[in-house]
Amino acid sequence: MPTLFKMSLKICALLLITLSIRTDALENGLARTPPMGWMSWQRFRCVTDCVNYPDDCISDKLFRTMADHMVSEGYADVGYEYLIIDDCWLERNRDANGKLQPDGSRFPHGILDLSNYIHSKGLKFGLYEDYGNYTCAGYPGVLGHLEEDAKTFAEWEVDYVKLDGCYAELKDMDIGYPAFGRYLNQTGRPMIYSCSWPVYQNFSGIRPNYTAIIETCNLWRNYGDIQDSWDSVLSIVEFYALTQDEIVEYAGPGHWNDPDMLIIGDFGLSKEQSKSQMALWAIMASPLIMSNDLRTVEPDFKAILQNRKVIAINQDPLGIQGKRKLKANNIDVWVRPISPIVNGKYSYAVVIFSRRTDGTPYMISVKLSDLGMDNEAGYDFEPMSG
Ligand SMILES: *[C@@H]1O[C@H](CO)[C@@H](O)[C@H](O)[C@H]1NC(C)=O
Ligand SMILES: *[C@@H]1O[C@H](CO)[C@@H](O)[C@H](O)[C@H]1NC(C)=O
Ligand SMILES: *[C@@H]1O[C@H](CO)[C@@H](O)[C@H](O)[C@H]1NC(C)=O
Ligand SMILES: *[C@@H]1O[C@H](CO)[C@@H](O)[C@H](O)[C@H]1NC(C)=O
Repeated sequence: MPTLFKMSLKICALLLITLSIRTDALENGLARTPPMGWMSWQRFRCVTDCVNYPDDCISDKLFRTMADHMVSEGYADVGYEYLIIDDCWLERNRDANGKLQPDGSRFPHGILDLSNYIHSKGLKFGLYEDYGNYTCAGYPGVLGHLEEDAKTFAEWEVDYVKLDGCYAELKDMDIGYPAFGRYLNQTGRPMIYSCSWPVYQNFSGIRPNYTAIIETCNLWRNYGDIQDSWDSVLSIVEFYALTQDEIVEYAGPGHWNDPDMLIIGDFGLSKEQSKSQMALWAIMASPLIMSNDLRTVEPDFKAILQNRKVIAINQDPLGIQGKRKLKANNIDVWVRPISPIVNGKYSYAVVIFSRRTDGTPYMISVKLSDLGMDNEAGYDFEPMSG
């Protein structure tokens, strides 16, 4: 059983210094900290049979119910904000004028009406599309309709667009993703732009051009989809550890690496494993997008998702993504510089992450200087709960 210890090291006195901000990144004013919310894919996938699965199918009813629970169960209070429809909301064909249309039987009131409902709950509304000819599940993609689809999204008062990369030419993505981003910008409606561009390129052996990606996207998927298992979490964490020296520098306010959804409260993770996902996503400055059934998340798991101290680390305003600094005896030490900065020195959040299975406490000793902490006056220690 993997176990997790968390600690944060903090300096008491407060002193603000000016930080220089990258000037070459997308600046649409959004996602100044990693976006938080809920998305349908991992938990509800492409269930379209509302006769046999009336409570689980991708439908107007599911999203209204989840919006209600985001608020009534306290998720909105701790920062979860965007409610995002993933694939399988569309009709198989565009309408007679070439406009995107939602599945008529599952979204009988249309998308704007649902968007209005979500906004009426004080939440923001996200919608999925795909850069290619089709979405991954085979519904119409935006290729050939970039401008009109961006306008449709604005008309439906979308606040967050997830643009997938199925059924697209990889070599076109360097042009197509920025083009759609420009059309989104031209609508005048601020919309977070979530891209899948780098993962499709990486998996095909093309080195993603992160300089171009941060000029275009607020967040981007670097690696494959999360599945409801601990193995999947571990493979994602290992990818980010192995590529950290190439990708961490691109994260910052307005632009984030995205290791995919939180699966806490689903079937695959134990309580300790859930704490590990939450702590590691916090240290990696990852978007916190849950994909679970908010109607049935058990109290212990809800408490992990709503841990305000861990969320505050994730949402640290400096927006620096943490790195794995040490790895020994099947234990990782991850470190993230956070605020406050005092006398030019960062404070730090630290995750000690054990993959050991020997079931008893295991002693390690770590020198703060090996983690990059060299403040001569020392550090205050604040353990995170749990
Ligand atoms: C998308 O559709 C167009 C028009 O049918 C076709 O020319 C193009 O090859 C398709 N692209 C991909 C990636 O399948
Ligand atoms: C469009 O881009 C400009 C220039 O980067 C930016 O200032 C503006 O906020 C963007 N507007 C929207 C709606 O994204
Ligand atoms: C793709 O990601 C792997 C890590 O899984 C990395 O080693 C490799 O350099 C990346 N490939 C490209 C072409 O970026
Ligand atoms: C990567 O993108 C940047 C910014 O768009 C561009 O200047 C540069 O030429 C691109 N690099 C490569 C290798 O294509």
